[in-house]
Amino acid sequence: MKAINLFNHWVDLGKDEGMEVNHTPSVNHMLHLIPSNILDSQFSFLDIGCGNGWVVKKMSSFKNCIRSVGVDGAEKMIKKAILKDEKSEYLVLDINEIKHYHEDFDIIFSMEVFYYLKNPKKTIQYVFNNLLNKDGFFIMGIDHYLENKQSLIWPQDLRVHMHTYSISQWEGIMKAVGFTNVSSFQFGKNKDWAGTLILSGKKL
Ligand SMILES: C[S@@+](CC[C@H](N)C(=O)[O-])C[C@H]1O[C@@H](n2cnc3c(N)ncnc32)[C@H](O)[C@@H]1O
Repeated sequence: MKAINLFNHWVDLGKDEGMEVNHTPSVNHMLHLIPSNILDSQFSFLDIGCGNGWVVKKMSSFKNCIRSVGVDGAEKMIKKAILKDEKSEYLVLDINEIKHYHEDFDIIFSMEVFYYLKNPKKTIQYVFNNLLNKDGFFIMGIDHYLENKQSLIWPQDLRVHMHTYSISQWEGIMKAVGFTNVSSFQFGKNKDWAGTLILSGKKL
């Protein structure tokens, strides 16, 4: 099944709200990692695979946020986002076709999306080259990766293709596309759960 179809169905089941609850601790941690020099002046924000838009809405309430945008391929997610948030901008977009998207942002964020994509490296390269401003910050979180053993059954359970990369493979992609200050951190790690893998980098 295509990930976008799965997540359209999840809106019918109200599961987008479950993701909001489950992802909040990791996302709050990610938002705290955004450098203060970016947040202290006017900034623009993009959420890639924004689901029902809850992070986009949250960022739009920051005092220096001049533009907050969410893109997602699931039409029902975007419809729900627009209903809940009139202030921000939302767009239905298949991220595998992101080369047709031409905008620029100071902060680019993504939670639980990149391993679903056809070619994560190509997309991250496009983000770096074409969507992120100079001195901008990219941060993404993922729960499905090689070291998080509990997540390895998900492709089979959900019948959706996922890239199962190791932490060092994800770090390698970030460095190879040109990010500096690449950092990775496993948030919320315990004995059965390796945590949300948070990767971030700057564009100099
Ligand atoms: C696990 S959900 C996370 C949603 C949101 N980031 C959150 O934390 O609540 C993954 C999201 O990625 C979107 N997605 C997956 N593959 C996509 C693609 N190729 N193009 C656009 N969106 C995609 C899905 O529609 C879904 O909303």
